[in-house]
Amino acid sequence: MRRLIAWAPVSSEATTDAVVFDQLNLKFGPLHLYEGLSLRVHRGETLGLIGRSGTGKSVLLKCALRLLVPDFGAIHTLGVDVLAETERSMVPLRKRVGIMFQNYALFDSLTVKENIAWPLRIEGWKDEQAIAERVAETLESVNMPGIEEKMPAELSGGMKKRVSLARAVVDEPELLFYDGPTTGLDPANAKRVDSIIERLKAERGVTAILVTHDMRTIDSVADRVAMLHDRRVIWAGPPTEMRTQAPKVVRDFVTGNFRGEYDPARVRAMLQGRRASRGS
Ligand SMILES: Nc1ncnc2c1ncn2[C@@H]1O[C@H](COP(=O)(O)OP(=O)(O)O)[C@@H](O)[C@H]1O
Ligand SMILES: [Mg+2]
Repeated sequence: MRRLIAWAPVSSEATTDAVVFDQLNLKFGPLHLYEGLSLRVHRGETLGLIGRSGTGKSVLLKCALRLLVPDFGAIHTLGVDVLAETERSMVPLRKRVGIMFQNYALFDSLTVKENIAWPLRIEGWKDEQAIAERVAETLESVNMPGIEEKMPAELSGGMKKRVSLARAVVDEPELLFYDGPTTGLDPANAKRVDSIIERLKAERGVTAILVTHDMRTIDSVADRVAMLHDRRVIWAGPPTEMRTQAPKVVRDFVTGNFRGEYDPARVRAMLQGRRASRGS
């Protein structure tokens, strides 16, 4: 177990933010992952978290829920000083947070219905009819009504993503973590997931951290973007500044992604747009 040391006190203003990471330091053996990493996620916003593979995006989500503990620093999640908590006292906070994991993390031996009902049962829901109704509504909200009795193995990748999205939101969490919600999906399915995320934000006003490499997702749903680089958050700002005012490392990362993941026509249009705006 790591020793907990409160590094720097977070100001009282911190409690108005949904998540505050303050001066985190984290080493995994020889790997020095974070050094003075700070980031604030404001209430009601969707923060896109970008950065190369291995920069610690998924680890940061885990830290917010005390599934991993940094060596130094402070973390406040929904006003709770998580490093001052114990495993037991974290349970109520974790119930207020929905997580869509990178690898679906569905239970293969359970039906879609039971997968989605899982968080409700953990919360102590007993009324079978209420559970069935909530599951049905949630499946409808991810545009997959009526698939309750299917098994995960019968579903395509895009459907599994949406089932895991349904499970993350079924108990109406205040805070949502999406880890690669569109990774590996074809453009049509990715767009479907984007629009579901957008709708959840518009209808429920939840706060979200969205880890993604997909700039289309960032453009359509993120209010702000933060980039992990060189052991810390190197830049945070609105998506519109990601390709203009942001430091070169951010712009390069973003355009690199365009080349890697976008169709050539769109890349050309974007590059032309940028040249035009520079007046050359
Ligand atoms: N529990 C752990 N123990 C040791 N190393 C870990 C652990 N979790 C993650 N790592 C390492 O930390 C680095 C960052 O991981 P991760 O947050 O998954 O990166 P990404 O930004 O791609 O999501 C990786 O090199 C990973 O191998
Ligand atoms: Mg990851």
